[in-house]
Amino acid sequence: MTSFIPNDKISEIKNSADLVDVVSEVVLLKKTGKNYLGLCPFHSEKTPSFTVSPEKQIFYCFGCGAGGTVFSFLMKQEGISFPDAARSLARKYGIEIPITHLSSEQKRLITERENLLSVNKEAMTFFCQTLLKSSEGKSAKAYLLSRRLTEKTIDDFHIGYAPLGWEHLVNHFSKKKIPASLVEKTGLILLKRSRGGYYDRFRNRVVFPIFNLNQQVIGFGGRVLDDALPKYLNSPETPVFNKSRSLYGLNRAKKRCRESDTVFIVEGYFDLLALHQHGIENTVATLGTGLTKEHIRLLKGFVSKFYLVYDSDDSGIKAAQRVIEIFRAEEVDARIVVLPAGHDPDSYLFNSGSEAFMDVVSKALGIIPFLIESAVKKHGLSVEGKIRIISDLKGPLALINDRIARSLYIQKISERIGVDEAAVLEKVRETSSRKTTISNQIYRFDKTGGKKKAPKEMGSKLERKIIEMMLQFPDAIPEVTRRNLLKHFEDEMLKSIGEMIVGYSGPFNQFVSDTITSIDNEEKKRTINSLAIGGDLWEKEGCNKLMNQFESIKHRRENTLLLKIKAAEMRDDKEELLALLKEKQNQARKSG
Ligand code: GTP
Ligand code: MN
Repeated sequence: MTSFIPNDKISEIKNSADLVDVVSEVVLLKKTGKNYLGLCPFHSEKTPSFTVSPEKQIFYCFGCGAGGTVFSFLMKQEGISFPDAARSLARKYGIEIPITHLSSEQKRLITERENLLSVNKEAMTFFCQTLLKSSEGKSAKAYLLSRRLTEKTIDDFHIGYAPLGWEHLVNHFSKKKIPASLVEKTGLILLKRSRGGYYDRFRNRVVFPIFNLNQQVIGFGGRVLDDALPKYLNSPETPVFNKSRSLYGLNRAKKRCRESDTVFIVEGYFDLLALHQHGIENTVATLGTGLTKEHIRLLKGFVSKFYLVYDSDDSGIKAAQRVIEIFRAEEVDARIVVLPAGHDPDSYLFNSGSEAFMDVVSKALGIIPFLIESAVKKHGLSVEGKIRIISDLKGPLALINDRIARSLYIQKISERIGVDEAAVLEKVRETSSRKTTISNQIYRFDKTGGKKKAPKEMGSKLERKIIEMMLQFPDAIPEVTRRNLLKHFEDEMLKSIGEMIVGYSGPFNQFVSDTITSIDNEEKKRTINSLAIGGDLWEKEGCNKLMNQFESIKHRRENTLLLKIKAAEMRDDKEELLALLKEKQNQARKSG
């Protein structure tokens, strides 16, 4: 029944699969520092102790001790075998595993969703071919080049061209014997009102396929090549395309987003392409809709810092006022970037380059400070101006439920414009008097490391701590080696883990997932797994402190031993002396 999956396919799957993605389908995860935390799906709990490390691609539950890689997660979660887990991941990430026999039942199970996705994929191929290979594509290609996109960008983003005419795509699908009624469901073709038959939605437009996180094409955006209207056209909402949950470019941005913990959000296709082409790949674009709560939740899975990039003060202010409540409710840090007058990200980058762009970014303000400064700029600091400023700001301020944050902002405004705090507060109160103030109770995540202990705590605390440090802050490994700390470990298992770490030659972020896949000592596996993901935030100073502490305890131990030896000599206790000398020899061997 189960066919053999070649090893290179397994590694391909392992490298493509994203544990946070996979877990997020069944567990609501919240980002806490570098990890994600949620309620464990493998035991019942009220405070979250299920931890996922995106960097190491492992999970661990501090409540029940379940842990492992993306494969073990699926196996445990769905009660399936390793090959089945691998196959399911392969499907999710679009990796083909040659299957020799597809039963009619399996064929029947191909859902409408999959059909729509494959129609979209076929259309994308058609558009790309038309852009690159046909004579009609020439003008479109020239247009893209005139917008300074490189061949690589065009290729990376699979940009295509929908030719002039009404039935190119209709005919293409009919030749492929794919029913028009199915293609119609993707919105790529539409039913003619008068006579029967269908016509193409996208005509004489460059076409941008929009991908989901699994690299599947969920819809398209198309731009005219001139000043015709409408300038942009998008696929309609379909069972696979929901604009308020989709972001253009996220599929290509997610990796850099995770690495940098930062995302840039722009409004246009060309803006996104310009940023990516300039190496700023942690960028996504909204699809003609404003930024929604769903977008932010989706992005929160990847980053905690948001930059919203706008092309004018006015559009920045409008957007800031609209999203202030969403960002506050989602508790993420957002800054507003406004480019110099007359520029959007696309024109600014091609005009001034990425350094200039990042320079503007570095001056970006948080939402409220941005609104304060914009209001000051707009109204000035005359008496009239100040009244207008307060009136502009009272609405947004009233939206802030957190009383402390609000009073801090009010203080800021009063200082900035020189108006008594109480007067500002009164204005805000008038606006917010009808609002409820249920404070948002959020998880206190620092419980993971402290309260609940990993099952079967073994070995000395400090030795565990040092291994934890090595796993979580690999920069400290050379210092551990230099000080020769492992030699003094009493716990043999911890010592051998330390030695494995020191001896590991691959990219270090893969150490844990590699090791726990390859060794079969369950206890060792579990220890590595749990120590790799614990709650401490490591920095150099803390590491040095820890290592100093370990060394001084080692010294103290040696000194105590010397004292004991002296005492035994004085008492002439031969038996005790022998034992102590043996211990000393042991120690000496370790330090030697
Ligand atoms: P370029 O002129 O190609 O540089 O586009 P732009 O992105 O700079 O244009 P603009 O600021 O006008 O539009 C920003 C985004 O809003 C676009 O990328 C589209 O997603 C959307 N948009 C603009 N015009 C239209 C339109 O006519 N219809 C629809 N559906 N969306 C539009
Ligand atoms: Mn533009």
